Amino acid sequence: MTGECTASDPADRAGAMLEVDLTGIVANWQALAARVAPADCAAVVKADAYGLGAPQVSAALAAAGCRLFFVATLDEGIALRTALPVSCQIAVLNGPLPRSAEEFLFHRLTPVLNEPGQIADWAKAARRHGGLAAMLHVDTGMARLGLTTREFARLADEVTQQSATRWCALISHLACADQPTHPLNDLQHARFASMCRRFGGLPASLSASSGIFLGRRFHFDFVRPGAALYGINPQPGTPNPMRQVVRLKARILQVREIERAESVGYGAAHVMEHPGRLATVAIGYGDGWRHSLSHRGSGRLGGQWLPLLGRVSMDLVVFDVSAADPALARPGGFIELLDDDYGVDAAAADAGTIGYEILTALSRRCHRVYRGEPNQC
Ligand SMILES: Cc1ncc(COP(=O)(O)O)c(C=O)c1O
Repeated sequence: MTGECTASDPADRAGAMLEVDLTGIVANWQALAARVAPADCAAVVKADAYGLGAPQVSAALAAAGCRLFFVATLDEGIALRTALPVSCQIAVLNGPLPRSAEEFLFHRLTPVLNEPGQIADWAKAARRHGGLAAMLHVDTGMARLGLTTREFARLADEVTQQSATRWCALISHLACADQPTHPLNDLQHARFASMCRRFGGLPASLSASSGIFLGRRFHFDFVRPGAALYGINPQPGTPNPMRQVVRLKARILQVREIERAESVGYGAAHVMEHPGRLATVAIGYGDGWRHSLSHRGSGRLGGQWLPLLGRVSMDLVVFDVSAADPALARPGGFIELLDDDYGVDAAAADAGTIGYEILTALSRRCHRVYRGEPNQC
């Protein structure tokens, strides 16, 4: 075929659409910032801002006054640097891998140093450059990243007196902050407070989203929320204080009548108990809508709750739309999958996972639409 082909609007040809409410994310950040003041509130935007788009989310937060951003990897930091004003600090939680110091410098990224090798390598680079900034991560009970208590005891004098590395923060991470009565919270607090005393006056940070709700003494100088910004409940089991900031909907491709005793989908895993109408919808585990939602998930159409029937396949799911308005349940219409009534935590409970995984699993195939983008940052 020859000739020109005019591209259609990506929104018109998208199967699944993810609407991200930047105004809601900013409102969540402001609510957390007000809660912890006079402590500062950073923002954790690793994993592409938990799947919602690090450049867009970070630019909106920077415009609202956020000045410190955390990513996990050097590549995430490099990508984010172009989206943020130089006045914003970007810290890289996983720290520098060997031979990456120059890139940290070039892209103005601050490493979080987690273990003795990273500390020694950074000190060498710092001596070459006449001093470099870094954050120090100490492990107070998570056994994941950060200097262990024994390493800290051994290295504290050397580390605090090291002239080449300019320490700009001391951080640690709580393991059980979403369980307010868990004894590890107080133990980690006590260990962290004692490590802070060795560093006298260095800005300190212990809490992420859930830790913010453990009370003022957990706030130290700044907090590092991620999940709560994106509407995940920081206090499971109690009403969610955060705004829902995502809506996910998927397009109906086909509507069919089905008889009693006919089966639906792979494995013939659902058998109809009554005749009805089915809608086949353009979302599947290839979009991040998890296979574990097979038989368990639900959607909404015109306010009507619709059961997901059978197994989630790679590109498609099937809903029983017998109870839906036929004027809405037609090809080209949309079924809502995440909204204010059925948020990220509800989907996570149905999928047998956590809200973090529901959000970060949403793939690039979901067309993203941003509401409330700032004009400038
Ligand atoms: C060191 C560190 N700080 C902060 C956060 C943000 O945690 P949350 O998303 O629970 O607020 C994380 C997330 O895993 C983390 O690893």
